[in-house]
Amino acid sequence: MATRAQSLTITDVTAQGSDAILLSLRVDDEQQPKFTFQPGQYLTLAVEVQGEEHWRCYSITSEPVTGQPISVLVRRVAGGRVSNWLCDNARPGLQLKVLPPAGRFTLARPGRPALFYAGGSGIAPVFALAREALKQGASRVRLFYANRDRASAMLLAELQALQDASAGRLEIEHWYDAEQGLPTQAGLERQTHGLEQADAYLCGPEPFMRAAATALAACGFDAARVHREDFGAAVQGAREDAADGPAATLTVQIKGQTHTIAVQPGELLLTAMLRAGLPAPHACQVGECASCMCRLEAGEVQRLDNSVLDEDDVAAGWLLACRTRAASPALQVRFS
Ligand code: FES
Repeated sequence: MATRAQSLTITDVTAQGSDAILLSLRVDDEQQPKFTFQPGQYLTLAVEVQGEEHWRCYSITSEPVTGQPISVLVRRVAGGRVSNWLCDNARPGLQLKVLPPAGRFTLARPGRPALFYAGGSGIAPVFALAREALKQGASRVRLFYANRDRASAMLLAELQALQDASAGRLEIEHWYDAEQGLPTQAGLERQTHGLEQADAYLCGPEPFMRAAATALAACGFDAARVHREDFGAAVQGAREDAADGPAATLTVQIKGQTHTIAVQPGELLLTAMLRAGLPAPHACQVGECASCMCRLEAGEVQRLDNSVLDEDDVAAGWLLACRTRAASPALQVRFS
């Protein structure tokens, strides 16, 4: 499998709360150009569990400083093969396959007042964004940070240090479900007071983000000012094969070979390629890592949401095979 992955060495593993770790990875000088990132972006890591390679995305918490390790927050998940493996096995010196940073959950308007809602491990990108908002001169930053209980809360010391250094610009409200119940609509709406013109950022479990988005909408935040990080939806997207779209004949050029295969109605192109046994480059299969980027040479396609391609990429004909369906009966794509 061809990927853009690099081998990075773990330099440090620190416990965070009762069930998470902060994992730091060294980026060597020659890898630096590929690993520049913006606060709010994530790394995609590979782990081999029982002979099978799995890829997962983890948000970066460290600052984008050249020569410094990149840190990501990894929390145990019930049945989560990669997260649990990392929490059990990660140690300094171990090497991991890592894809370059990606993601669009970045500050929309640096320097503007910002309102953050973080639930559980959603604090990872939110912490990075809050720190960046302060660094960019935001006059007011507010964070509502919900956890199931105090023991499981992460990055508490880091948040306290950020607040101490913020000269009163950062307000934090901690919320613990075990003590206070689930956050109420009124409580979520209250966070907007005095920040009616702010940009809002949400990351956490889907019900939490839905509740926060509803509260923001009720307070007059239009959708353009509400930004979400939603790994769950991306994973779900990989299973979106069953949808309408024409059956198609797909011609694929890979490594100098040309193959012609059938694409079923609504099928994702990568799914069709793998079903046909083609050596199509891929990794995450959720539109997160860019491994399956290829160029449309002929035909029409429907591109689904992804975290990789911008408008210029699309205009240049790039697509992600894992997030694209046929929209015409004949297609041609080429992997470079
Ligand atoms: S396989 Fe990762 S973007 Fe398609």
